[in-house]
Amino acid sequence: MNKVISLNVDKVLSFVSKEKIDANAALAKQCNETLHKGTGKGNDFLGWLNLPSSISEDFLADIEKTAALLREKCEVVVVVGIGGSYLGARAVIESLSNSFDWLQRDRKVPVIVYAGQNIGEDYIHELMTFLKGKSFGIINISKSGTTTEPALAFRLLKQQLEAAVGKGEAKNLIVAITDAARGALHTLAKKEGYKMYVIPDNVGGRFSVLTPVGLLPIAVAGLNIREIVAGATFMEKETAPEVAFEKNIAEQYAVTRNELYKSGKKIEILANYNPKLHFFAEWWKQLYGESEGKENKGIFNASVDFTTDLHSMGQWIQEGERTIFETVLSVANPNHAVNVPMDEEDLDGLNFLKGKRVDFVNKMAELGTQLAHVDGGVPNIKIEIPQLSENYIGQLIYFFEKACGISGYILGVNPFDQPGVEAYKKNMFALLNKPGFEKEHEEIQKRL
Ligand code: PA5
Repeated sequence: MNKVISLNVDKVLSFVSKEKIDANAALAKQCNETLHKGTGKGNDFLGWLNLPSSISEDFLADIEKTAALLREKCEVVVVVGIGGSYLGARAVIESLSNSFDWLQRDRKVPVIVYAGQNIGEDYIHELMTFLKGKSFGIINISKSGTTTEPALAFRLLKQQLEAAVGKGEAKNLIVAITDAARGALHTLAKKEGYKMYVIPDNVGGRFSVLTPVGLLPIAVAGLNIREIVAGATFMEKETAPEVAFEKNIAEQYAVTRNELYKSGKKIEILANYNPKLHFFAEWWKQLYGESEGKENKGIFNASVDFTTDLHSMGQWIQEGERTIFETVLSVANPNHAVNVPMDEEDLDGLNFLKGKRVDFVNKMAELGTQLAHVDGGVPNIKIEIPQLSENYIGQLIYFFEKACGISGYILGVNPFDQPGVEAYKKNMFALLNKPGFEKEHEEIQKRL
């Protein structure tokens, strides 16, 4: 196959000229080359760069084997993780799975649910109640192995599983994905004898979807991980530094968004017209927000699901402060066809659409919105995905990762660290009086 996802910046050019974009071609190329030479900031976290093309057959077969075991034994699989150890898997699974399959009694794959991505007591209680009497397994993902949210959820779920099936069987139903040598999860997994996968040292959380972090849950969900890897490998070649700027969609996107940022468009809204892409946008927000939001600069990343949010945020986008631009994820062809039926009475007045595809209506909403938003001062970047399939999602993942690396270098930051994430943890540990935080505990009490 390998039709390709495409980028169209035509509806940006009345805000930022083509000359301005092209004037940055050399800079984008230089940033792309810097990534590949490994000479830029954060160069110890570039393991994602050539990851797709280096994934081995043995590795994929092993992931598929573990996934098959979990599928065979479990009605439900709980994926425990947060941030980069959670969003990639959920983004892909929700983009490519039937939206209502989890409600079917005769489904062929386990229901995938998530834990450790929040500390909501009601959420974990309701999840544990849901799991009662069901056969379930756990994929516990934490690179550091010490993150509070997943550690807390795993402690509860592990005890529930052991109480239900016994310690001996529970260990066959738990998979740990963590650091090769360090961290509490690594120690625990070794001691308990869990099947373990390693997150490479040089791949940061938000770039880890094509490691076991994403691939194992995705395979458990019954999706074709080989096609995802094939799509990503294809995009690895399409965005290599050797590919001319005019054809290099990662360089083009990186330059365009930075030029818009410089022109005062400080907020990028990722819009989709397909609700299955909701979590893809959540993944994208982390990828760009955590990579670029530092040193008091960086585009703020937001997302909307259209047409749903046209009835909530549409007013702000059309007429609010003119500091936004929009990047639209447009799926060219749905996987299913539904036609508008004829109705004798036509009380809803929709017979003018009879025989038309629902997607035709959606596309006209998309086009109408694009024109209205551009008229309203919102530049529009369009990314077209031929269809929601494993291959195209693989392409999209790598495209956004590559563009993110280039874009961060254009902005002048280290796109691969996240020093700001520690601030809340430090305060939380101080407030919780975690061992080792006694002094901070005393100090923070004075501020309350
Ligand atoms: O991208 C990141 O680095 C973060 O979002 C982490 O993935 C997240 O904080 C979870 O960390 P860990 O996998 O160490 O539990």
